[in-house]
Amino acid sequence: MIKVALLGFGVVGSGCAEVLTQNKDLIKGKVGDDLEIKYILDLRDFPDSPFAQRVVHDFNVIVNDPEVAIVAEMMGGSHPAYEFTKACLEAGKSVVTSNKEVVANFGTELLALAEKHGVSYLFEASVGGGIPVLRSIYVDLASNRISEVNGILNGTTNYILTSMKQSGASFGDALKKAQELGYAEANPAADVEGLDAARKTAILCGLCFGKLVSPADIHTEGITAITGEDVAAAAELGYAIKLIGHADTKEGKIQALVSPRLVPLCNPLSGISDVFNGVLLKGDMVGEVMFYGPGAGKLPTASAVVGDIIDVAHGVVGGTVKRPYFENATAEDVADFGDYACARYFRFANTPDEVTEALGEQVQQIVTKSGYVAVITKAMSERKAVASVADKLCVLSCMRVL
Ligand code: HSE
Repeated sequence: MIKVALLGFGVVGSGCAEVLTQNKDLIKGKVGDDLEIKYILDLRDFPDSPFAQRVVHDFNVIVNDPEVAIVAEMMGGSHPAYEFTKACLEAGKSVVTSNKEVVANFGTELLALAEKHGVSYLFEASVGGGIPVLRSIYVDLASNRISEVNGILNGTTNYILTSMKQSGASFGDALKKAQELGYAEANPAADVEGLDAARKTAILCGLCFGKLVSPADIHTEGITAITGEDVAAAAELGYAIKLIGHADTKEGKIQALVSPRLVPLCNPLSGISDVFNGVLLKGDMVGEVMFYGPGAGKLPTASAVVGDIIDVAHGVVGGTVKRPYFENATAEDVADFGDYACARYFRFANTPDEVTEALGEQVQQIVTKSGYVAVITKAMSERKAVASVADKLCVLSCMRVL
């Protein structure tokens, strides 16, 4: 019998207990041994839950119990999740997590600590919810040099953007519904202002390029400034607006950013709706690969956490666990953001002639049904982009194009 402890009994924690219970026999067949939840750590009591007797409030009960081999951290937030993870690894327990904040901020240190103590630190659920994307990168695509990754990495914002486009829902109503469905972070500012996607982009940089870029070094914009006018103008131009986490390498340096982008309808990321996420990456051997699936929610995220528990359990019964690895990116590893270049979408309060005279040749220009001039430019760098255009024209909105 392999004993497991769950840290946190919220949306993902309770989902994890459900997966381990509902598919107990299936999991036993795969591992060759039973997995038993011995403890659940939470500040609250759950008197009506079938797991009520396993709830503890003192972390020391778990870390000091030598029977507990695997700890699933699903608390969210950096603290005390980071300290608890460290203590478990130092006590010789493997830790699996859905906590992207801890992985993005402390992942390198925690992987090294796991290695030192001969245990594992796995975090499949931290990016893309239920999509098996991280293990695919560090196991199945290990022979590839990855040059670029683009992802819809936040289910809440994709749900909001889809609702705004398809049913004309207001931003506030769509966010409320995403919260009710259990997709949003405890503080949904992390979703709508792009920080959650930046943490996931940081983790993808770690696995794709071997360097964990600090989320603080990833230029991040959220979706709060997007208007219905822009959603409609983008559709008229033949694009969908998506919050995209992007990372690539240019001359050996990593360029990483999160921002809303106009995604052309020919790009498969443009068709990803609701809470679904997608990750599109380019490997030098495999070419383009896309991962798609539910990016948030109770059972999908728990499915990925339990996948990691099963992987670790294979190690406990004498098999091998494939471990992710990366280092922290240094200042030299990260490109100057001012040099990043891509095409831009602008919406102006000017006439078509004024726009053409100021911008010269553009890729596309239309007058929208609402009477605005909307354009797609050729690639322009961050340094030049908005300032040079705003000097000459009345810019109502501006977004990057994928
Ligand atoms: N709040 C996150 C999202 C949860 O909406 O994608 C999954 O990481």
